[in-house]
Amino acid sequence: MKIASSPSVPSTVETELLVVLVADTGDKTPAPELLASDRAIQTLAAPLIAASDLTGKFVETVWLLSPAGVAAKRILFLGAGKRDKFCITELRKLAGAAARTAKSKKIKSFALVLPEFLEVPAAAQAAAEGIVTGDFDVDTYRSDRKDQQITEATLIIQPVADAKAVENSIAAGVIIADSQNLTRSLALEPGNFLTPTILAERARAMCEETGLTCEVYGSDKMKELKMGAFLSVAQGSEEEPRLVVMRYEPATAPASPVLGLIGKGITFDSGGISIKPGDGMEKMKYDMSGAATMIGTMRAIALLKPNVRVISILCCTENMPSGKATRPGDVAHAMNGKSIEIINTDAEGRLVLADGLCYARQLGATHLIDAATLTGAVVIALGYYNVGVFTNNDEFAEEFLISTERTGEKMWRMPIDQDYFDQIRSDIADIKNTGGRWGGAITAAMFLKEFVEDKPWIHLDIAGTAWLEEGKAWMPKGPSGVSVRSLIDFARNFTNIPK
Ligand code: BES
Ligand code: MN
Ligand code: ZN
Repeated sequence: MKIASSPSVPSTVETELLVVLVADTGDKTPAPELLASDRAIQTLAAPLIAASDLTGKFVETVWLLSPAGVAAKRILFLGAGKRDKFCITELRKLAGAAARTAKSKKIKSFALVLPEFLEVPAAAQAAAEGIVTGDFDVDTYRSDRKDQQITEATLIIQPVADAKAVENSIAAGVIIADSQNLTRSLALEPGNFLTPTILAERARAMCEETGLTCEVYGSDKMKELKMGAFLSVAQGSEEEPRLVVMRYEPATAPASPVLGLIGKGITFDSGGISIKPGDGMEKMKYDMSGAATMIGTMRAIALLKPNVRVISILCCTENMPSGKATRPGDVAHAMNGKSIEIINTDAEGRLVLADGLCYARQLGATHLIDAATLTGAVVIALGYYNVGVFTNNDEFAEEFLISTERTGEKMWRMPIDQDYFDQIRSDIADIKNTGGRWGGAITAAMFLKEFVEDKPWIHLDIAGTAWLEEGKAWMPKGPSGVSVRSLIDFARNFTNIPK
């Protein structure tokens, strides 16, 4: 897809489809206001507003064909919601909604008028992100796949002094969104098409394309490294596990800090011997979303080239029951020597991440962020709309949350403190892998904390948010790629953050 910007008068733009945003300024009664100061277009909107056909309600759509006095073949008035709530986050969604609405009408190119009051480069980046992520489809395996892709979009902007800055922002937006889409396309893959071996190959292919260093290891290396926790999960599966190390090491970057990004890559989570109920088990193909998140993030980092070292570890395996599988009650030893009593083999994510976190530190990571579809409990706590954020370092987490505000990804700080540790004390080992029913997302985070030592660390529990249960106007039902944009933004700003 090509995305360009053009400082033009909207009504003079020749296009298949001109998208104009309409906000609602009214408190009780809708008072629609066009977010484009163009006389010809306002004239066209006036009767629609008078008839209450156009209210500005969020993602409302009103079409005009062959509009008079306008060069475009069609106009789409797209409701932008309340005017005083409108910001970059809404623009990103609306750009996505514009792309999806165009697709539904088999229109492959369109122009979108950006509101004048937004800062142009930031608005252009967000619009580009929205359009590219909105263009993503989930029907990969359908024989009647439509393959209706947007080929071209033009952002109508205010004249700016620095045109190059706008161009760069759009290019960055496209890279970020393509990377988020890569994450989504991986999460979408079923377990039989995306085994641990294939997931590792996909990571390697991305690294080769973008110039990252990539190492892929099997169980021999994992035994050598004494990754007993990770191996205890892998041992039940016919599929070989894979440990992936991706490195971005710009020559000019200082030796420290090194950002470590660790992803849970369970390509299918049956629960193992503590097998899950059949209902909904098919969804556990997206239990590798954490690893997919890091693949997408590393891609964008490789292309956007921030001056900071980043190293990423993916812990890829299946969680399956078999005669070789770990039994509840078994004890495993993680890489740092800690003994773990495995109470429930379905709490496998924390086991693979335990070794992943230790290894990231061994490889020199000074700051750690992991992403994982770790617990059903985080879905109980935060539902489908907020990623759970856990940390052992307030400043580090605060800085990260600033990134989430810029990217519009909703995340919510959750507490961790030593009181919860009692729940994961074992009678026979150093720690056990489940903490009972209450505060399950927190006790899972407490478990991970045992493996980060003194390093600043953030844990993102994306179990409720990595898969959209309901389609939105800007995004279809399915994998969301949540946290990719925030991790990219954070990495790009990491050099400026006081440590
Ligand atoms: N992969 C699941 C968590 C999950 C749940 C992801 C729902 C996405 C949607 C994880 O491995 C798991 O099974 N967790 C257990 C832990 C329990 C046994 C302590 C859970 O949350 O039920
Ligand atoms: Mn599980
Ligand atoms: Zn899992």
